[in-house]
Amino acid sequence: MTDLRLAIVTTAAQMNDALAIRRAVFIGEQGVSEEEEIDEYDGDPAETTGVVHVVAYCRGVAAATGRMMVHAPPGEHPHIGRVAVLREYRGQGLGRAVMLALHNEAQRRGYAGVALGAQLHAIPFYETLGYIVSGEVYLDAGIEHRWMDVSFGS
Ligand code: COA
Repeated sequence: MTDLRLAIVTTAAQMNDALAIRRAVFIGEQGVSEEEEIDEYDGDPAETTGVVHVVAYCRGVAAATGRMMVHAPPGEHPHIGRVAVLREYRGQGLGRAVMLALHNEAQRRGYAGVALGAQLHAIPFYETLGYIVSGEVYLDAGIEHRWMDVSFGS
């Protein structure tokens, strides 16, 4: 992918870029409600703690995003969520780039791995990044998920 820039979100404008992608993908495509999708971790980065958001800009267009809750209890992995790539940008490595940026951030903070709830269709995507399924199917926002995790260096 040429002209790809990854940003750790630090400004309200970047946060709005992340939310625009999530609204298009999760609310627009998947039918999740605004109330379920947007929470207290999606505020102005200047006033919001406990979370890191990443946005991938492809030729200047905000095209992919994801976030990680950065305060995991001792011995547990931090949780990644809200991973989304605009439909027209899929299959070009943007999802992988967002995940690797979040992995880097987790490693920088001293974590040994990360965990997430994967929509069933996305399990093969996460498997390409080394994730292993670790739980049964459950419903979140009416969508079937399974818990997965990866240990860095494994
Ligand atoms: N099934 C099988 N493999 C898949 C896949 C799928 N649905 N989606 C991606 N992959 C593979 C790619 O082939 C690629 O493999 P490779 O490294 O061997 O070449 C690897 O995963 C990375 O793919 P990438 O191009 O980075 O994925 P993407 O940018 O299309 O993003 C999603 C993948 C799942 C994030 C994207 O499809 C998306 O946003 N879907 C809608 C939102 C969603 O469901 N998010 C996940 C919530 S848990």
